[in-house]
Amino acid sequence: MDLDGECVVVTGGNSGIGAAIVRAVAAAGAAVIIDYRARPEDTADLVQEITGAGGRAVGVEADVSTPAGIDELVSAAVDHFGRLDAFVNNAGIEKRHSILEVTEDTFDQVIAVNLRSAVFGTQRAAQRFIEQGTGGVVINVSSVHEDWPMPGNLSYCVSKGGMRMLARTAGVELGPHGVRVVNVAPGAVNTPINEQTMKDDALRHKLEGTIPLGRVADPAEIGDVVAFLISEKARYVTATTVFVDGGIMQGSTGL
Ligand code: BGC
Repeated sequence: MDLDGECVVVTGGNSGIGAAIVRAVAAAGAAVIIDYRARPEDTADLVQEITGAGGRAVGVEADVSTPAGIDELVSAAVDHFGRLDAFVNNAGIEKRHSILEVTEDTFDQVIAVNLRSAVFGTQRAAQRFIEQGTGGVVINVSSVHEDWPMPGNLSYCVSKGGMRMLARTAGVELGPHGVRVVNVAPGAVNTPINEQTMKDDALRHKLEGTIPLGRVADPAEIGDVVAFLISEKARYVTATTVFVDGGIMQGSTGL
């Protein structure tokens, strides 16, 4: 994979899947803008890790749930590295509740962080790609739950379902501009969002029992796919979703 000379923005880039994407694209030669909201020390460590290995990375604190926050990231890419080649809408939160429990505030918060950010991240990145005249790639980190119900996780599933149609609709609209839009849909991954499940042996085994590959993913296994999809090797992939789920969505007990 060769991303030499390219500049990639990763939202929610200082932990979990985001940090793995940062590592994967930096290892492929890209300069990276690492967006974050919390734990500046983790961002500093990640920047140090990448620059120490000869790569290029800058941390930027920005709230991607507002278009103003997105604009800060695009400007940082241009100011620091002179261009933008890929924008990864990765930032996300998960708040467990059912349709009977959900409140307006919680719903709005989940939609703002997961979906609103991805809509305006796609818009602002596409505007920049068109202005640059280079084309570009938007990757949305969705979830198997963009297409698969998870009872008790209503707002999260609705937000990811919205991302599913974002990739398809924006992908169709932006194709003529040389801009690709692709969703990467992870299954269960060992990240802070799943901390509760991973800490509880019984829950973890129950989850692993539903995964044909028999284990939860390492974040790097998602990062590698994102780096591939950004690269020229994936130049004909757009307006669709690549599932990286160990087969969880097709799992069957066979009974
Ligand atoms: C969710 C996890 C869930 C996994 C598989 C992910 O998108 O964040 O909570 O375990 O999907 O269902």
